[in-house]
This record gives sequence, C-alpha cells and structure tokens, in this order.
Amino acid sequence: MFPLDQPGPTAFYLTLYLATFVLHLLPMAYVVAGAAVLLVRTLAGARPVDDPLAEHFRQWLPFILSVAITAGVAPLLFLQILYHREFYTANVLLFSRWMAILPVLVVGFYLLYLMKGDWLWQRPLVVRVTAAAVIFASFAFIGWSWSENHLLSTAGQAVWTEQYVAGRLNYLPGELWPRIGIWLSGVFPVMAAIVTWPLARGEDNADLSATASRLAMFAAIGLVVSLACIGWYLGVLEPAARTAVLDAPLRVWQAAFVVGAVLQFAAWILIWRAGRLEPLPRWLATAGALFMVAALAVGREAIRTSRLDMTALLPRHQAAAQVGGFWLFATFLVINFAAIAGCVYLVARYARPVEAERAMDKRRPQR
Ligand code: HEM
Repeated sequence: MFPLDQPGPTAFYLTLYLATFVLHLLPMAYVVAGAAVLLVRTLAGARPVDDPLAEHFRQWLPFILSVAITAGVAPLLFLQILYHREFYTANVLLFSRWMAILPVLVVGFYLLYLMKGDWLWQRPLVVRVTAAAVIFASFAFIGWSWSENHLLSTAGQAVWTEQYVAGRLNYLPGELWPRIGIWLSGVFPVMAAIVTWPLARGEDNADLSATASRLAMFAAIGLVVSLACIGWYLGVLEPAARTAVLDAPLRVWQAAFVVGAVLQFAAWILIWRAGRLEPLPRWLATAGALFMVAALAVGREAIRTSRLDMTALLPRHQAAAQVGGFWLFATFLVINFAAIAGCVYLVARYARPVEAERAMDKRRPQR
C-alpha cells in the first residue's frame, strides 16, 4: 500500500509529510471556503447580527487562519527532506511571484481583523463587499501559488531550463485548471462539516434551519464540482500518473475516497431534509470529509512520485534518517500540541460570548 511500499526512509518521511499535510488541508479548507461564504453572504446584504454564518466566520476566521499557517510548517519541513532540489528550484524560478504570497497573506490576515470588529459592518455595502472580496482573493491567490509551485517542482529539468531562459514568473500548464478546480470546490464540504459543530451548539437558542440548508447547498455543490474536476484532471494527466492514481497500491485510498463521498452525500441529504444539524449527519459529514481529504492527499502524492526519480532521491532520505533527533521532535510535537490545546481551552472556558460583551457595554454608564 502506498506510501508504505516505498523504501524505509522514503516511506517514513512520506507518511509524516502526508499526515501533517492533511492537518494543513483541513483548516486551509475552512479558511478558503469560509472566506467565500463570508463574501457571498455579505454580497446578499447579510450582517453578523442577523446571519449566523457571517457571525461565525467573522469571529473564527482569524484564529483558524493562524491554525492553517502553523499547520503548514510541519509538511513544509518534510517536503524539504523529501524533495529538496525540486521544491527550491520551483521557488527560485517563480521568484517574486512566489514571494508575493507573504504580503498577500498579511493583507488577508489584517482584513480579517477588520471584519471581526464592528467598524466595517457600519460602513456602506460596497465597502463591506470590497473587504470580503479582497480577503477571498488573497487566500485563493495563495492556494493558486502553491499549486503552480507544486506543478513546476515536478516538471523536470527541461521545463526548468526553458522557464529560466524565458524569464517567466508564472507556470500555467493545462493541468493547473482542473487541479485548482478540485481544491477550490473541494474546500466547501470540508468547511461545512467543520462548521456544523460550533453552529449546532447554538441551535437550542436560534432557528438555524435556513443556515443548515445553506450549508447543505454549499457542501453538495462543492462535492459535485470537485468530483467533476477530478474526472477532468484524470482526463488530462499523462498515462503514467493516471495509472499511479488508479493502480492497486492505492486501493485502500480509492475505497476511502468512495466511502468518503458517499458518507458526505448521505450526511448533507439528511441535514437538508431535517433542516437541523443533528449529531449523526455531523459525524457522517466529518468522517466523510476526512476520508476524502486523506485519499486525495495520497493520490496527489502518487502523481508526484510517478513523475520523479524516487531511486535518485533515496540517498538523501537515508542520510536524513541517519541524523537522529526523532525523540526530540516527538517531545516538542507533544509539548506544542499541549500548549495549543491549553490556549484553546482557556479561551473557550473564560472568553465571554460576544452578545454578553455587547450587553455589558450597553449597561455601562455613558460619559
Ligand atoms: C491562506 C493561506 C494558504 C492557503 C489558502 C494554502 C493552500 C494550499 C493549497 C491549495 C495547497 C495544495 C496545492 C496543490 O497541490 O495544488 C497547499 C500546499 C501546501 N501548503 Fe498551503 N496554503 C496556505 C498557507 C500555507 C503556509 C503559510 C504554509 C507554510 C507555513 C503552507 C504550506 C503548504 C505546504 C508545505 C504544501 C504542500 C506543497 C507541496 O507538496 O508541493 N501553506 N497549500
């Protein structure tokens, strides 16, 4: 079974890369799709006071964005061990186009804080929509850049030379479009599954039937479009890469993909019909999203390994495996997880709900 069928050191780093990459993909999906929903709801004239989705995303997007960024560091480390030369060659060739993700990320991050406060929501519609549109465009641009960089890194010496000679700062092969289509639509069902949990907690106090139906619609459309884009992508892939994805070593992952899709469709049909976020469909949607994301991450890696000479990369992986430090890494992993969990627990336990905060503000004597 891929990636365990690879030589020991390669399998070890691939497994760590994939496990940590999935941890990046989940909050990333929440951020991209959440920003899109915030934009759509703002365009429809919704405000946080009367729209649970707008309220949820404006409160939580800044925090989950920092989770997505932090969770990107671990796969980045394993990526550098696995594909050092390929990754950095693509970085250097794309140069300022690649580095642009940093200022763009800063702009998106700070605009999220503007959205979190009350000031922006008292401005005219055009200002609110512009802010939401810039936020979504920033994150879509960053995801796009990761895709471009990824594809260039697997393109090989002939393309790198041609890219360098032409002095081009972008790389737009035909397979980029279905690839972007997959993640740009696939993020919606993942986001929707995550959001059901916090929203369901407020269901006792508010009628969330319109919100539940809206979430089901976002998730179902995202699922259908991402499945169509996967078909499109398989159609444009070169035969070796297509075989790598559809071959026997990926059977378990192919099964996980199908089960994941079925669970999610079942969950969203149940939610749509009930107009409520019941626990069973929430679990089904979450498990289905996890299965599908994991399967897609592994399939994505099978495409990359089919394009690269993995035998030539093995000595690097072996050398890295000799360096040691695994237990130090494992210790800090546990400490960091505990520290993050502790922070989240403290905030969740002692933070006052926004409504309570606002009510207190009103009661305070005015000067
Ligand atoms: C809002 C910000 C971000 C978004 C929307 C985003 C989105 C994405 C997407 C869509 C991919 C997959 C691209 C593909 O396979 O076609 C990806 C890959 C990746 N991202 Fe992020 N990302 C963000 C921030 C970050 C940050 C800040 C880091 C590092 C600290 C990071 C680390 C990674 C890594 C290591 C990969 C795998 C690259 C590869 O295997 O070639 N991401 N990201």
